[in-house]
Amino acid sequence: TTGPLRDRFGRVATDLRVSVTDRCNLRCTYCMPAEGLDWLPTDEVLRTDELIRVMTVGVRDLGIRSIRFTGGEPLLRRDLEDLISAMSARPERPEIAMTTNGLGLARRIDGLVAAGLDRVNISLDTVDATRFAEITRRDRLHDVLAGLAAARSSGLSSVKVNAVLADHDDLTRLPQLAHFCLDHGYQLRIIEQMPLDADHRWDRASMVTADEILAKLRAHFSLRPDPRPRGSAPAATWLVDGFDVDGSPARIGVIASVTRPFCGDCDRTRLTADGALRNCLFAQGETDLREILRGGLTGHDLDDALARRWRGNTWAKSAGHGVNDPGFLQPSRPMSAIGG
Ligand code: GTP
Ligand code: 5AD
Ligand code: SF4
Repeated sequence: TTGPLRDRFGRVATDLRVSVTDRCNLRCTYCMPAEGLDWLPTDEVLRTDELIRVMTVGVRDLGIRSIRFTGGEPLLRRDLEDLISAMSARPERPEIAMTTNGLGLARRIDGLVAAGLDRVNISLDTVDATRFAEITRRDRLHDVLAGLAAARSSGLSSVKVNAVLADHDDLTRLPQLAHFCLDHGYQLRIIEQMPLDADHRWDRASMVTADEILAKLRAHFSLRPDPRPRGSAPAATWLVDGFDVDGSPARIGVIASVTRPFCGDCDRTRLTADGALRNCLFAQGETDLREILRGGLTGHDLDDALARRWRGNTWAKSAGHGVNDPGFLQPSRPMSAIGG
């Protein structure tokens, strides 16, 4: 049962995204209602040892080469450093990254880097404090900026900023955000909003598209095509004339999940906080690993059962997300419970 995770379309999953909690300390309007969601009960969330077991099967037996911790907000897990250490100590040494909203990151970054964290992506939609409080429903811009600055000075190989533009007013504020990121050496990626909000309020007509984002950027900056191959990365990137990051040309990216899907090159597999495998953000079905983890098997038998289920889950992956197909159905789990 060892060997790469293949699907019917010839894609190989090498990138594992692990959602370590469904909870979050912000309430972004495009993600969650103001009152939050019904969080998973603690006993349904995978424990430290269970997460390490699954990740180990991934990197040792199934060809996983990179792991990204997501949430909810991953920093809400106290054992994040332990999860990172366990994976950075493996002989296969996967690349280890995290996607976070940045709250509390300044206090933990040194420990995370010491444990083996290689890269961090921080969500920040605006540098306008009033607008930040409106979008996130919390007045915490200052903490996020402190987290960003700490990450940048901690010696990580890259610090990226993820921005979702909630509406077309935010598009008019994009140059301000882009200037901020370029001035501070953060790689900004602007993300098309996807139909993954808990309230099911996404609509195509109000979504800010990649074409609109690029037109706005080109009106303020001179962009050149990025010579670096894109591979399976969600972001298409451009070099920005006149700006650099530690002597290398500055980049800016657009993640056009809706208008320019990149599913044909997808290399992802996902684990939810309650132990379900998802072969796609938009998958309708899931594979439960928790019942196996807690079902009494031990040692090689347990690892084997986990690997077999994982293989089956990957094989069943759809060719694409279907967002642009008639009859598209939004998955029942919202973004915060999948992990982005
Ligand atoms: P890098 O390795 O730094 O390129 O990270 P990433 O862009 O893959 O991960 P990140 O968590 O920063 O995600 C940025 C945005 O891309 C988020 O809005 C994600 O939801 C979106 N995204 C991540 N993975 C996928 C994916 O497999 N499919 C689609 N359609 N969008 C994705
Ligand atoms: N569409 C696209 N991106 C989203 N994110 C959260 N909700 C959505 C959505 N509906 C982003 C966050 C974060 C990343 C993990 O996903 O802003 O940067
Ligand atoms: Fe992969 Fe699904 Fe994302 Fe497409 S939408 S890139 S198939 S995870």
